[in-house]
Amino acid sequence: MRVAIFGTGYVGLVTGTCLAEVGHEVVCVDIDQAKVTGLENGVIPIYEPGLEPMVKANHAAGRLRFTTDPAQAVAHGEVIFIAVGTPPDEDGSADLQYVLAVARTIGSHLRKPAVVVDKSTVPVGTADKVRAAIAATLAERGADVDFDVVSNPEFLKEGAAVEDCMRPDRIVIGADSPAAVEKLRRLYAPFNRNHERIVSMDVRSAELTKYAANAMLATKISFMNEMANIAEKVGADIEMVRQGIGSDPRIGWHFIYPGAGYGGSCFPKDVQALARTAQQNGHAATLLDAVEAVNERQKAHLFELMLRHYGEGALRGKTIALWGLAFKPNTDDMREASSRRLLQLLWDAGAMVRAYDPEAMDETRRIFGERDGLVLCDSADDALRGADALVVITEWKQFRSPDFASLRQRLADAVVFDGRNLYEPDDVEAAGLAYYGIGRGR
Ligand code: UGA
Repeated sequence: MRVAIFGTGYVGLVTGTCLAEVGHEVVCVDIDQAKVTGLENGVIPIYEPGLEPMVKANHAAGRLRFTTDPAQAVAHGEVIFIAVGTPPDEDGSADLQYVLAVARTIGSHLRKPAVVVDKSTVPVGTADKVRAAIAATLAERGADVDFDVVSNPEFLKEGAAVEDCMRPDRIVIGADSPAAVEKLRRLYAPFNRNHERIVSMDVRSAELTKYAANAMLATKISFMNEMANIAEKVGADIEMVRQGIGSDPRIGWHFIYPGAGYGGSCFPKDVQALARTAQQNGHAATLLDAVEAVNERQKAHLFELMLRHYGEGALRGKTIALWGLAFKPNTDDMREASSRRLLQLLWDAGAMVRAYDPEAMDETRRIFGERDGLVLCDSADDALRGADALVVITEWKQFRSPDFASLRQRLADAVVFDGRNLYEPDDVEAAGLAYYGIGRGR
C-alpha cells in the first residue's frame, strides 16, 4: 500500500520504517530540511536499536522515501499518518497546533480518497477536530473528496521501538467506518499473523485507550515508589515486597520497579494531559493528580538521601560521580529525565558533578552546554576520578556489576546512592561502602 507519514520523530520514523520493511511504499514528510537531508544520507536523528540499518535498507530499496514536500506526500498516500508532536501546553493539556496544522495541509492537497490516521497521542476528541480541519480546508478549495479519520495510537517503548512495532502485542484501530477499518487491517496484515492482534473500536475509545495504558503504567510506578518510601520509614525492604507481590498474576512483575521516578516524553505528559481532559469534562482526576505528585517528589528522593547522609549544607564542594543521564537505558532521550532534577538540586547545593551516560552525552551537552559544576566524562570509570560519592540514576547494563572493592578505593567518602536498586546492599556494604537504595529501610 502507499503510505504517507507526517513527522519523522520517534513515532513517525519507526512506524514508517517498519511499514516499509513489510513491503509498503512509504513517503515520510517533515518540515525540517536538515533532518530530511540527513535521513536521505543515512543520518538517523535518534538513537534506537535496530533502526539505522532498517532505514538504510528500505531507503536503498526505494520503499522508504523522505521529503519536505507535503503535496507529494499527500498525492502518494492512500493512508496518511499524522505523527507530529503534541507537547504540553502551559496548563498540561496537549498542544494540538502541529497536529491541526498537518490536518489543514492534508486538506489543502487532498485530491483522492484517503484514510487519515492519528498516530500521535492526542486527547479524546482530537479526531473530530482533525476531521473538521480537513473538511474546512477542502471546503475553502471548493473540493469534494472522501476521507476518513482514524485513531490508531502507538504503544512503542523507546529503546525497543522497532521490536514493538514489528511485533505489536495489540493494534488498536478506532474508526467510525467499516471501510477504514478494513483498509488498516490490510495495512497491518503482515504484523497480524498467528493470532488476532487487532482490536477495533470507536474513535473516542481508541483515543482514551492510549492514555489509559500509559496512566495505568505510571500509576504502578508511583504506587511502588510510595510503597518504597513507606518501606524506608518502617524498616522494610521494598525489593522483598516487590517479590512478594509480583508473583500474584493479578499484579504481575512488570512496572513495579521503584526508582528515581519516571521520565520520558510520554508518562509525565500523558498523565497531566489526561488529568486536564478529565477536569475540562467536569471530573476531578484525584488518582492521576496523586500519581503525578508522587513522581515529582520521587525525582528529588535521591537528593534527600544524600542530604540525610551528608547533612544540610555539607554537599558544598563535594564531587559527585553520576552514572546515567537518559530517562531510561537504551536511549539518548533526556526529556523529563530524573537526572535533570538531580543535577539542578546538586548544583543548588554547591556540588560538582562528573557525569557519564553511554548514549546521552551529546544530548547533555546540547541541554546544559559548558557550565560550572558539570564535567562530561568519557566513561563510567572516568566519572569516578576524584569523586567523593557515586550516584546511579539510569539502569544501563554496564553499571550493574561494578567492582565494589575498587569503588571503595576511588570514592573518598565511600558512599553509593543507588537510584534504581541495582545492587545488593550487603555486597556494597561488605566492601566497606555505605549504601543507599530506594525503599531499602531494613
Ligand atoms: C511508554 C510506554 O511504556 C509505551 O507503551 C508507550 O507507547 C510510550 O510510553 C508512549 O506513550 O509513546 P517509554 O516512555 O519509552 O514508553 O518508557 P518506559 O519504558 O515505559 O519507561 C518510562 C519511565 O518509567 C522510565 O523513566 C523508567 O525508568 C520508569 N520505570 C519503568 C520505573 O521507574 N519503574 C518501572 O517499573 C518501569
